[in-house]
Order: sequence, then C-alpha cells, then structure tokens
Amino acid sequence: LANAEFDIGDIPLGQGITVKWRGKPIFIRHRTPAEIDRETAVNMNELRDAEPDAARAQQPEWLIIVGICTHLGCVPIANAGDYHGWFCPCHGSHYDVSGRIRKGPAPLNMEIPPYKFLTNTKVLIG
Ligand code: FES
Repeated sequence: LANAEFDIGDIPLGQGITVKWRGKPIFIRHRTPAEIDRETAVNMNELRDAEPDAARAQQPEWLIIVGICTHLGCVPIANAGDYHGWFCPCHGSHYDVSGRIRKGPAPLNMEIPPYKFLTNTKVLIG
C-alpha cells in the first residue's frame, strides 16, 4: 500500500504505538506537554543532526517517525535511553522524544514519513 490510515484517538498521553507502513515500523507517539517543552527547548548546538522540534512534528503532541535506527537499521526500543525517547540496542544509539540522535553511533535523526492528519484522530501516512 502506498498510503495507509491509522486511528490514533486511543493512544494515551505519554504513550505510543508502532504501526507498519510499506513494511517499515512507524512510531506514533502522543507527547505530553512536558515532553514537548523539553524538546522545543533543546539548543541546536547540542544536536548532531540539528533540527528544531517544530520541524519534526506537524502537531506538537504527535510525533510520527520511521522506527529505524539510522546507524545500521535496527528497530529502537521506546521509552528507553538517556534522552527518554528511544534506545537502539544494537550498538547503543540514544534518541530523544523528537526522534533526534543524541548519543551513540547513528549519524542522523530518525526519518519523518510523509503524513497528514485527516481528522483529530486519524492520520494518513504515505
Ligand atoms: Fe542502531 Fe547500530 S543499528 S546503533
């Protein structure tokens, strides 16, 4: 399928789900106000792949990323690592709650797939 619709209305605040799109895991995370504040406050100098949080989420409370580590392609684990986002167990890459690489061997932030919100609770990926 080139694109797929997902219902996100049941994802509690602070939690996320993994869906499949074109055979890839997609992480959809319902971010809390505290998480959004923390990620928007990060100084660009601290980032290896400098991208402001606002450039990574169309709606700040929803982070939608391709769940593939940019090092060698493992699937990172949610709610783990030193930056509260994801941790890749293969070689130890730490990602923040914006999916940005913060520590470890991965060179780039986790990718953002093309998506749009159809309603407040439905997103179309692809
Ligand atoms: Fe994730 Fe190497 S594949 S750290």
